Amino acid sequence: MAQAEILFPHEVFDTRIAVAYGNYHVECADNLAFMRTLKSAAFQLIVTSPPYNIGKEYEKRRRLEDYAQEQGRVISECVRLLTPTGSLCWQVGNHISTSGEVVPLDLVLYPIFKELGLTLRNRIIWHFEHGLHCSKRFSGRYETILWFTKSDEYLFNLDPIRVPAKYPGKKYFKGPRAGEFSCNPLGKNPGDVWVIPNVKANHVEKTDHPCQFPVELVERLVLSMANPGDWVLDPYMGVGSAIIAAIKNSRDGYGCDIEPKYVQIAEGRLVDLCEGRLRTRPMDRPIYDPSLKNGGQR
Ligand SMILES: C[S@@+](CC[C@H](N)C(=O)[O-])C[C@H]1O[C@@H](n2cnc3c(N)ncnc32)[C@H](O)[C@@H]1O
Repeated sequence: MAQAEILFPHEVFDTRIAVAYGNYHVECADNLAFMRTLKSAAFQLIVTSPPYNIGKEYEKRRRLEDYAQEQGRVISECVRLLTPTGSLCWQVGNHISTSGEVVPLDLVLYPIFKELGLTLRNRIIWHFEHGLHCSKRFSGRYETILWFTKSDEYLFNLDPIRVPAKYPGKKYFKGPRAGEFSCNPLGKNPGDVWVIPNVKANHVEKTDHPCQFPVELVERLVLSMANPGDWVLDPYMGVGSAIIAAIKNSRDGYGCDIEPKYVQIAEGRLVDLCEGRLRTRPMDRPIYDPSLKNGGQR
């Protein structure tokens, strides 16, 4: 029992074992009610994308002040649940007011994270190619991920997420290291601008959810900010993409969503993953480029 208390975020061990992957637990619940049942400092990584207050099928438009206040309550609970070395990644886009004004949600929410004592490590730009074609402003083709840590002693594993260097064989041509490789043979840091296709109609991961995470986007966060066996939480999990990214990489996943139909899809995807049927876009697949043969795909 003492061991279960250390290992599992709930007092009662009711987590499903995903054989050969990580453990997971998903629930249909309001996230505040759900998180209040979980133990403090249990999660190494919390990664999520909340509603943007733009009137999607799973939300009602509210005054921006009310939206921000509710976000504050959820974020505060997330901070309680983070381990001292843990990371909180909040993925948001723009709120568009009824008059068409663009309000970047990361700017609205940043003071809340600061007030709660978190430290911003990166503001990651996630660039994608597909979306609405606007006629009165430039079409939106990026969103952001705010990566905060709870302390200065935070976990960050760079090697598992390195990407191929531009000139992998390049060597120093003079000086004391002449002849040695000038770049890391494992690849380079992916930087803070991530070009990852968003999940639209032709994406292999598309479900009935209107705004799901690409699994590869969360995999980069999971691999760098949590170790195998660590717990990862998504309090707005939708169809469970973050939980999939976690258990696919031998981390353990917890999540909740308030809409039963999304939770049902998440459960189905998790079963498919564990039984080897779930297709996800691989992290190392090049971006489709119509100017190249076969779109540059291998
Ligand atoms: C932007 S979507 C997240 C999608 C998710 N990243 C995925 O990959 O499927 C936001 C989700 O938050 C859920 N949601 C809204 N309010 C909630 C609440 N109070 N508690 C839990 N989930 C909520 C919505 O049903 C919606 O699925």
